[in-house]
Amino acid sequence: MPLVPMRQILDEAAKGGYGVGAFNVNNMEQLQAIIQAANDTNSPVIVQASRGALKYSKMIYLKKLMEAAVEEYPHIPLAMHLDHGNGVDTCKMAIDLGFTSVMMDGSLKSDGKSPATFEENVEVTRKVVELAHPLGVTVEGELGCLGGIEDGHGAGLEGDAVNEHLTDPGQAEEFVKLTGVDALAVAIGTSHGAYKSGRKDPKTGEILPPALAMDRIHEIHKRMPNCHMVMHGSSSVPKELVDIINQYGGKMPGTFGIAVEQIQDGIKHGVRKINVDTDSRLAITGAIRKVFFETPEKFDMRDYLKPAREAAYAVYVARCKAFGQAGHAGDYTPITLDDMKKVYGY
Ligand code: G3H
Ligand code: 13P
Ligand code: ZN
Repeated sequence: MPLVPMRQILDEAAKGGYGVGAFNVNNMEQLQAIIQAANDTNSPVIVQASRGALKYSKMIYLKKLMEAAVEEYPHIPLAMHLDHGNGVDTCKMAIDLGFTSVMMDGSLKSDGKSPATFEENVEVTRKVVELAHPLGVTVEGELGCLGGIEDGHGAGLEGDAVNEHLTDPGQAEEFVKLTGVDALAVAIGTSHGAYKSGRKDPKTGEILPPALAMDRIHEIHKRMPNCHMVMHGSSSVPKELVDIINQYGGKMPGTFGIAVEQIQDGIKHGVRKINVDTDSRLAITGAIRKVFFETPEKFDMRDYLKPAREAAYAVYVARCKAFGQAGHAGDYTPITLDDMKKVYGY
């Protein structure tokens, strides 16, 4: 079975009322863990690569790894998605490479840092849709800006600036109409990475959960019940994973993530794609640290990459179950990009 267009996975998720994890991938162990988890939970899955991941893996290796995953588990619908594309050229490069879906993150200028205007965002996103849809490729756009600047993505917004850049539901409607995107990433107060809170109790100094504007998601869903929303920065940053890192020599104080219950609320209101990268990084880092700490004499990379892969696998299994995609891999017959072209009218 070929890689499937992400649009099909999202349409089917909407029909079934569940969400689908979009897991970032950089290397073989991560991808093996993802596809194994998808197989074992019988889940459709979205695998995404950032620009950084493509650079790290020299592109062709990631593409071939994805092909291997599809070959190993042909019954699992798998979409290969570009995460945070920063311009038409990057999206075109991913499409040429065989990605079945691209994100044009026009909420930021091409530097990936400065917030773009609504008009700039519409223009660049529409151009990508015009390029992608005739080829059957799915397009995700983003309106509003995430907080934080971890991982090199984001405008570095904090405090009130985060609120000023949340997605406006009225604008979202206009954006979807003007661009024709298949999926809309919304800014509701999440941020990338392991430090999502930015809020402390002024009296106790205790870190408080990030304040999420779930009402924006509710409102967008009311206005556009058929719009597939995407939640970025949706790692839960489980304390037990951070504790392992800290127990074995790491230093990660003050982390905070997004509660799975909040994501599930989003899924009830039109969120179909949930981006998770950090949780896998935490699991992998903790597992490797543990081996290094407990058996410093070891130097065979398989001794630490195997437990790392197993730790990531456990995260993916948990997310597939929590988001509701588990059990749905066989619900539909996957289509090709050629089939999808026709759906778009080409
Ligand atoms: O969007 C953020 C993802 O976690 C990807 O991060 O650019 O470090 O690969 P990255
Ligand atoms: P996390 O950093 O919360 O895993 O978010 C990843 C993401 O949004 C990738 O686009
Ligand atoms: Zn993101």
